[in-house]
Amino acid sequence: MKTRKNSSSSSGFPDVRLRRLRKTPAIRDLFQETHLSVKDLIAPIFVEEGLKKPQDIGSMPDIKRFPLSSLSKEVEELSDLGVRAIILFGLPAEKDDKGSQAFADKGIVQRSVEQVRKHFGDKIAVITDVCLCQYTSHGHCGIVVDGKIDNDSSASTLGRVAVSQARAGADIVAPSAMMDGQVHAIRSALDDAGFSDTAIMSYSSKQASPLFAPFRDAAHSAPEFGDRKTYQMPFSNPRESMREIEQDISEGVDAIIIKPAIPNLDLIYQASRATSLPICAYSVSGEYALMKAAAMEGWIDENAVMTEFLTGIKRAGADMIITYQAKKMARLLSE
Ligand code: PBG
Ligand code: ZN
Repeated sequence: MKTRKNSSSSSGFPDVRLRRLRKTPAIRDLFQETHLSVKDLIAPIFVEEGLKKPQDIGSMPDIKRFPLSSLSKEVEELSDLGVRAIILFGLPAEKDDKGSQAFADKGIVQRSVEQVRKHFGDKIAVITDVCLCQYTSHGHCGIVVDGKIDNDSSASTLGRVAVSQARAGADIVAPSAMMDGQVHAIRSALDDAGFSDTAIMSYSSKQASPLFAPFRDAAHSAPEFGDRKTYQMPFSNPRESMREIEQDISEGVDAIIIKPAIPNLDLIYQASRATSLPICAYSVSGEYALMKAAAMEGWIDENAVMTEFLTGIKRAGADMIITYQAKKMARLLSE
């Protein structure tokens, strides 16, 4: 009997030729499974009180701290590119041990929200980071009592912060302090103050990651003593990470954030299978810095690697992505 080999007949080798669907750009586009859209992107913006003009950040090339006076111009640029969601980080002129500027009615982030609302109405979804580290003299995310981060007074302070941001017009508040019960504390503070329509997107599974270093440089928020390991998650514990998420669900969270993104694609995937919550991945400052440094050396092509990273994050199960490359990606998507 004759065996057929390498023939073009239907039963010949190989029957399955996956390369058929990769033949041309048009065919590849048709069969693309994961699509990035400008609607998935959330741009982080740093606003610093007392600045005269935008300032470069050494460890985050192309990213700036903005004075309040140039915030609207930055948002306008994003909006023109189709990016319609921002997350605001305020950098106050004064810090104290209670982080008072975080919940001041005329604090930097409150005024930033008011300004965006005034100029853009509902055209932009305004998210605010709810934490104390940029506002406390010691740089920790909570209130320090006897040299320790006190959970419950920190959680109730975060409630005050969220209410002040909601009052300024924030659509979504994003607690990032990793205090137990922070979602409950914020939900009840918001509801009591009449902001039952303000959503909470919690950084549920936020790890104690060295990849936040450039952010701390940008936001002047490195802790003065110790580290954040008594509140942020160990990055070795996926089951504990799911417990954090379950806890937030039981406290009424509307959406969750997982960060950093690239080292945690498995957690994004797990969360997307195990819950029906919207999932946001935060591709953090260190992920940006790594990519940028290599791109600036000419070792990688930034646009291509950015597309691969963001597509991978979305493929893992993220519905949306906070990325310092929002503008760059939006520009690329519009080409
Ligand atoms: C504030 C906060 C941090 C980040 C987001 N919110 C810093 C930290 O926890 O030290 C990190 C974001 C980034 O690295 O891009 N708690
Ligand atoms: Zn913090």
